[in-house]
Amino acid sequence: MSLIGKAADRGDITFGIHDLRRWTSDVHHTVDDAPFGGGPGMVMKPEPWGEALDEITGQVKGPGERPRLVIPTPAGIPFSQERAAQYAAEHWLIFACGRYEGIDGRVGDDARSRMPVDEVSIGDYVLAGGEPPVLVMTEAICRLLPGVLGNAESAADDSFGFGAGGAGGAMAGLVEGPAFTRPRVWRGHEGPPVLLSGDHAAIARWRRDSALRRTALNRPDLVERLRSPEKSDDRKPLRTAQGGLDERDREVLAKAGFPVTGEGVAH
Ligand code: 6GU
Repeated sequence: MSLIGKAADRGDITFGIHDLRRWTSDVHHTVDDAPFGGGPGMVMKPEPWGEALDEITGQVKGPGERPRLVIPTPAGIPFSQERAAQYAAEHWLIFACGRYEGIDGRVGDDARSRMPVDEVSIGDYVLAGGEPPVLVMTEAICRLLPGVLGNAESAADDSFGFGAGGAGGAMAGLVEGPAFTRPRVWRGHEGPPVLLSGDHAAIARWRRDSALRRTALNRPDLVERLRSPEKSDDRKPLRTAQGGLDERDREVLAKAGFPVTGEGVAH
């Protein structure tokens, strides 16, 4: 079974799934209607959502128990490893999955008077509903919870490098380099010998170099953010990231065809 499934069995995480039609009162259990102002598609009616959120959040007593409402929408703020870490620190998240052309805009506005509300997108493409994004987000969040991963460092050194602690490990702001296992030689390709050297400092440096090379190749946008955190649109992780780019990092990037100068990144 998955590590998240085991955490749920231990009672470390509780999942609840609710059918919105439970909070409808007409015979057809209608949850959608034509949009005000016309246009294609259907909009989710506010009343069932209001009733559902009232009932589900009804037992809340103090501010410490207040849930955060997350509304998946392609028009939302970007979901990221940093946001996953922030959500992993929340004690209760409610995901309101919209279908059709989305949920009536007053639902989020009304909920905001009682709880924090985020509209969140998982990327720049359009899906038919919020359910797949919620699967994606819950997996990213739950694997950061204490005891879910085997080893606490595996989250700190993930790509993007912002573990549950938020500050980030040695790979803060980078994607991870490739990994290797036995056999030492496979189809004539040898694994990097340094990884078998037992020299932990050399291994750590090699891993950072390989993360920098892969980031330069696949994610030049991330290198640019590391280079000039003040220009970043997602500033906090870069201010808390350890190091930024040192001289050796710049050498590695230059050799990867990605020279980083004092003033700009030459492509
Ligand atoms: Cl959160 N929802 C939908 N429907 N489409 C999306 C999305 C969310 N994120 C990217 N595309």
